[in-house]
Amino acid sequence: MRQKVTIVGAGNTGATMGQILAARGYADVVLIDIVEGLPQGKALDIAESAPWSRTSASIRGTNDWADTAGSEVVVITSGVARKPGMTREDLLSVNAGIVRSVVGQAAKHSPNATLVIFANPMDAMCHVAIEASGFPRERVVGQGGMLDTARYRTFIAMETKASVKDVSAWVLGGHTEATMVPLTSNATVGGVPLTQLLPAAQVEAVANRTKRGGAEIVDLLKTGSAFVAPAVATIDMVDSILLDEQRIIPCCTLLNGQWGIKDAFVGAPVLLGKGGIQKVFEIPVSDAEREAIVAAGVAVKELVAATPKG
Ligand code: 2OP
Repeated sequence: MRQKVTIVGAGNTGATMGQILAARGYADVVLIDIVEGLPQGKALDIAESAPWSRTSASIRGTNDWADTAGSEVVVITSGVARKPGMTREDLLSVNAGIVRSVVGQAAKHSPNATLVIFANPMDAMCHVAIEASGFPRERVVGQGGMLDTARYRTFIAMETKASVKDVSAWVLGGHTEATMVPLTSNATVGGVPLTQLLPAAQVEAVANRTKRGGAEIVDLLKTGSAFVAPAVATIDMVDSILLDEQRIIPCCTLLNGQWGIKDAFVGAPVLLGKGGIQKVFEIPVSDAEREAIVAAGVAVKELVAATPKG
């Protein structure tokens, strides 16, 4: 029997995640949304692609939480996306209420699940999710680092004209423009330091473009935010959990002393496998990068303090 994954929210992001996951074929997918017909329609469309995407996995849409029972992973995409000119932090009040409510339902129906938090502002929503679920820190993990790292590697490849396959670089810290920390001290292409390949101003420009990566797409689309790269990045995390791949990847986790930060959800390299986060690594970074990661911890605590309580 295949394992079950629930994706909460059947908007562009949730539906794209459902499509990717169903095509991979190792898990049955439940797509749930409050809007009647939306998850059913999206799931049926994806299900009808199965003969050509050659998957035997099922996907079904529902408005009923009972259908999500016993999920191994629940991905939370619910909430409002930002519009041009908005920051992710502007979504705090409206999305906190939505995330609190859906996480409560998810935890009730799938008490052993690992929660993957996508809703923005993602770092603060992880705090809402851990409180609303009562789950241990290992089973609440935020998406952000994977997407931001994908954008960083893409922009490095574009600037160096090298294959993205050979780019090795990470984004830690928070998933907001102010708190994202694209690491330059250990970024390499084929083992060659990025700082040797590009002049300092260009390295800085790549890091800054990464920080504005989400806003760049919001400004272009005008009616919503990115969803393809976010969905691919998130489903890679689901792979690592469900297939127990034990990947070490940048995810948002409740830190417990790394870089001196405690009790704040911040992006760090984590070992992700069955049951969620198995280990969190404090890696060597430059002094400036360390300061920026510490500042991300302070900023998320401020957002948590400003989050309306349920
Ligand atoms: C992004 O960066 C939606 O936060 C997501 O595009």
